[in-house]
Amino acid sequence: MTTAGPVTAPSADVLREADRRRTFAVISHPDAGKSTLTEALALHARVISEAGAVHGKAGRRGVVSDWMEMEKARGISITSAALQFAYGDAVVNLLDTPGHADFSEDTYRVLSAVDSAVMLLDAAKGLEPQTLKLFDVCRHRGIPVITFVNKWDRPGRDALELCDELVERIGLQPMPLTWPVGAAGDFRGVLDRRDGHFIRYSRTVGGATAAGEQRLDPDGARAEEGDGWTRAVEESDLLAASGGDFDLERFLDASATPVLFGSAVLNFGVRHLLDLLVELAPRPTPRVDVRTLPRPLDAPFSAFVFKVQTGMDPAHRDQVAFARVCSGVFERGMVVTNATTGKPFATKYAQQVFGQQRSTLDTAYPGDVIGLVNATALHVGDTLFAGRPPVRFPGLPSFAPAHFAVARPADLSRAKQFRRGIEQLASEGVVQVLRSDRRGDGTPVFAAVGPMQFEVATHRLDAEFKSPVRLERLPYTVVRRLPDLDHRGVLDSRGHEVVTRADGTHLALFTDSTALAVLRRLHPEVVLEPLVAGTD
Ligand code: G4P
Repeated sequence: MTTAGPVTAPSADVLREADRRRTFAVISHPDAGKSTLTEALALHARVISEAGAVHGKAGRRGVVSDWMEMEKARGISITSAALQFAYGDAVVNLLDTPGHADFSEDTYRVLSAVDSAVMLLDAAKGLEPQTLKLFDVCRHRGIPVITFVNKWDRPGRDALELCDELVERIGLQPMPLTWPVGAAGDFRGVLDRRDGHFIRYSRTVGGATAAGEQRLDPDGARAEEGDGWTRAVEESDLLAASGGDFDLERFLDASATPVLFGSAVLNFGVRHLLDLLVELAPRPTPRVDVRTLPRPLDAPFSAFVFKVQTGMDPAHRDQVAFARVCSGVFERGMVVTNATTGKPFATKYAQQVFGQQRSTLDTAYPGDVIGLVNATALHVGDTLFAGRPPVRFPGLPSFAPAHFAVARPADLSRAKQFRRGIEQLASEGVVQVLRSDRRGDGTPVFAAVGPMQFEVATHRLDAEFKSPVRLERLPYTVVRRLPDLDHRGVLDSRGHEVVTRADGTHLALFTDSTALAVLRRLHPEVVLEPLVAGTD
């Protein structure tokens, strides 16, 4: 069944539904336990739907692999960008942040669609490079972060030392809500710092079910745990003295982070994390449009596309656009307007995404993610809306790239198609396309957050534009913004290069931080600004 035009729902319904939503992503370095934690979270919850299940299509690459494991283990179908589940009265949307080989601009863009993030740390490793990059984006966007220190069942670092690392390396004040009893590797349970009680965990076989929990008052805990308890209490007092007590405002303004200790594989501390998300994590709020006016949550439907997944197999038109609902109600089949082109877009194919038992996603509210199949007309950053007034949200930012390559058409007779293809890929945000005076207009420089973006770009130029491309990787790894070109002459030599982005921003590329340091020393007059992930 299809309906044309906006669905009208009483605004009280929309506001109530939005208030139940908690939309977040897990930011972590590969191997910290993101998949394990996701599975553990789902164990506590009732999985109601998975946006973006595209069955039997070649396009579902690595992103899917972890979720496929879950699919096998739980007998549910998860090939998704977002997992939705009910927990108590809340509806939780967990957005996947592709990592490993799939790490790309998409990973960052997901963070434009969440209201909070869980920073997952391996207790033995603390802050790792990919976590830091993703945290940078959260910081820039002001996304509140809850920290979960994972793998406490294994020998690891000292809890106080891990907390110090947050302050020293990223200037984030830790506010532990629980404190481990027993050193890493001998995980007995946690001190609940909000009421001083001891939560003792007991193992279940392989963490296959929610862990057993027993609550003891401080006297009981001291009697049972002896020195381990006394030490936890002392350390907790130390934290209180150093500004480590919970402060909701500081969490919401993203200057401090509640910290929990746990073990995803044993399901220790996972319920606490869910409870915390439901209790404290921000609900969807009105999104600001290009005129800087907030779109009220109960205005007619609006959403923005934060990710487009295109199949690598040209035989299948399996392009899926993922959009986060910002206001109103989405109902499958409604006709919406793409604010970028002004053209109508029929959402009847959303049906294929949600299919089967996922009827709950026939309707979506602010905070939810909808997956639109065969959405070839939709690009990353597009706004969709229904009804009046029309709305357009700001496009998504581009992020600090770390990989660069020169692109040349392999077949010069296809130069026109090559140019058209490059324009298309740039507009979709598949790769960033930079211009280098040194190389000329016909030889663009591709820039990417992750190298897989190059593979996708090469494949699409070949398959869709019949313009095979030769990529020559460039040795640059460090990028800085060049606010003016006064001294560009000194930058156009070995070890660096000046390029220009489509928006006119000039960037200086360096082979490594040594090349940057040397230039700074020899030419202090050159102004270089950091290009933090997510700053523009
Ligand atoms: P990722 O998605 O962040 O990459 O991590 P993933 O969940 O795949 O976990 C990486 C490894 O860490 C897995 O071990 C997983 O079992 C283990 N792990 C996750 N959480 C915990 C925890 O709380 N405690 C301990 N001790 N280990 C944890 P693996 O050997 O790579 O795989 P597997 O054979 O155990 O599945």
